[in-house]
Amino acid sequence: MSVNSPPSNIPFNRPFFSGREFEFMQEAIGNWQLSGDGAFTRKCHALLEADLGVSKALLTTSCTHALEMAALLLDIKPGDEVIIPSFTFVSTVNAFVLRGAVPVFIDIRPDTLNLDESQLERLITPRTRAIVVVHYAGVACEMDQIISIAESHKVAVVEDNAHGLFGKYNGHYLGTFGCLATQSFHETKNFTCGEGGALLINDPRYVERAEIIREKGTNRSLFFRGQVDKYTWVDVGSSYLPSDILAAFLYAQLKSRPTIQAKRKAIWEYYNEELEDWAGRFGIERPYVPEHCQQPYHMFYLLLPSLADRQALIDHLNRQQINSVFHYLPLHLSSMGRQFGGREGDCRVSESVSDRLLRLPFYNDLTEADQRRVVSAIKEFKCL
Ligand SMILES: Cc1ncc(COP(=O)(O)O)c(C=O)c1O
Repeated sequence: MSVNSPPSNIPFNRPFFSGREFEFMQEAIGNWQLSGDGAFTRKCHALLEADLGVSKALLTTSCTHALEMAALLLDIKPGDEVIIPSFTFVSTVNAFVLRGAVPVFIDIRPDTLNLDESQLERLITPRTRAIVVVHYAGVACEMDQIISIAESHKVAVVEDNAHGLFGKYNGHYLGTFGCLATQSFHETKNFTCGEGGALLINDPRYVERAEIIREKGTNRSLFFRGQVDKYTWVDVGSSYLPSDILAAFLYAQLKSRPTIQAKRKAIWEYYNEELEDWAGRFGIERPYVPEHCQQPYHMFYLLLPSLADRQALIDHLNRQQINSVFHYLPLHLSSMGRQFGGREGDCRVSESVSDRLLRLPFYNDLTEADQRRVVSAIKEFKCL
């Protein structure tokens, strides 16, 4: 089986095939197991657990669903407050709002664009149940301070690590700090199976219930391991496990980690070096990665001086068939966010960054020639 040649424009994202996806998918089909938790799901679990050093990894149908599992596992109830950055994807907040939680939006730091830990104490109340951190672009939040504040208030920390698989903070993998963490294997991520995710469990007390919630509220996993003689409905739950065919695709990608990460590192460093002078001339910021953070090279973005400059650069690149994209709109100013009391000025950094951030084409097979084309097109651009 082969894939048609890609179109000649430069997209923002293009899926990558590491080479063994079809072989492993055929093997999954040959195993006569198309549903979830087959041999390839178990291989992905074992690889993630061994590489990251987490107690338990469970593949899910998406990061969104892994976040929903986290909210169920934490027993979030109506009226509970959950602190969440305004500058994130809608699933980070929806998972908790589905359980009746009240989102409390926190602003981000202007350097890493991560949750501003200095504002946490001010936002914690007796109703706060969890802090959800998002490692933006896979660059770590300040986890030492966050964990110590959370512990002193007995509040859970969940890491939405959709961008940050294999990123590190002070030498430890992201996804190993919170009691629970979530990963995304959506097509835009470093490792993909089209749509997919994982729940990482660092507090072993959650493991048994997580297996039940993931399997429609039944103790089917215990049954398959011979730990009970029949399986039945024991808790709330849903169907959060992906087909073993998708797990086979993902396994091929995870096995190619060195190749994938080397390609992405080279792309990120090329943008960073080539655009340094041009960015400096126009007061444009490039991503900031603190010394103690090891990034997984998920994304390369620019922070333009204004919304008008950002739009002008998008248009300039579009005219040359180069697709660049903005990112999150602040959640506190969305129509749902406003229903929870969000107003202009609540999270000023999120508001400003959301207007000015532009993500450049970034995918594993971005060729040197295409990247040169992107860079020279950008260098022709002058801010307004
Ligand atoms: C921070 C963050 N969390 C969660 C998600 C949702 O991931 P998924 O598409 O796997 O549900 C995304 C999507 O890109 C994201 O950026």
